[in-house]
Amino acid sequence: MRLDCGLCAVREWRRSDERALVDVANNRKVWRNLHHRFPHPFTGAEARHWFSLLAATSEPTHWAIEVDGVAVGGIGLDVGEGIHAKGAHFGYWLGEPYWGRGIMTAAVQATSRYALSRFDLVRLESPVFAWNPASMRVLEKAGFVREGVLRKSVFKDGQLIDQMLYALVKE
Ligand SMILES: CC(C)(COP(=O)(O)OP(=O)(O)OC[C@H]1O[C@@H](n2cnc3c(N)ncnc32)[C@H](O)[C@@H]1OP(=O)(O)O)[C@@H](O)C(=O)NCCC(=O)NCCS
Repeated sequence: MRLDCGLCAVREWRRSDERALVDVANNRKVWRNLHHRFPHPFTGAEARHWFSLLAATSEPTHWAIEVDGVAVGGIGLDVGEGIHAKGAHFGYWLGEPYWGRGIMTAAVQATSRYALSRFDLVRLESPVFAWNPASMRVLEKAGFVREGVLRKSVFKDGQLIDQMLYALVKE
């Protein structure tokens, strides 16, 4: 799988990305905005564990974001089960040196459309921590709509915070 997003490409993770992944993922500012499954510190061992998890799936649903041939972030989805099988949780992150260039907007626009089609989904949802307006803006630029506030739904970095629930729905 390889999506050309203009400012970046989205493609499968490779074991040879280990060093690049650690370089960008081992950052508290990235960790602070993500689910608890994203570790900190992020070492080579965490990178190798991640590649093993992906290798155990029949088709990866988490990909690397590549800029100038280097993996600089991640994007992906977890498809729901049972009654939630037509939807997925959609998430992403980018290494700090690459912020503010429109890269994630391009990646989210391309990957969200690809994912809806490839996995026969009608809904992608992304809860965003209340302290992360840049991520809300990315989602809005990619056509996601704010559906509500999940009040005090997350305890992260010592704080109890709201999440803004965004979703992209195929009509
Ligand atoms: C959030 C994140 C994905 C943004 O990626 P990015 O490539 O810098 O985003 P883009 O450049 O495509 O767009 C950012 C938008 O947010 C806006 N923005 C940035 N900081 C902002 C702030 N403090 N308040 C409001 N808007 C802000 C930018 O102006 C831009 O909007 P514009 O194009 O209308 O000017 C990136 O910072 C990141 O990975 N952060 C850590 C992990 C994370 O937060 N993941 C998402 C979890 S929901």
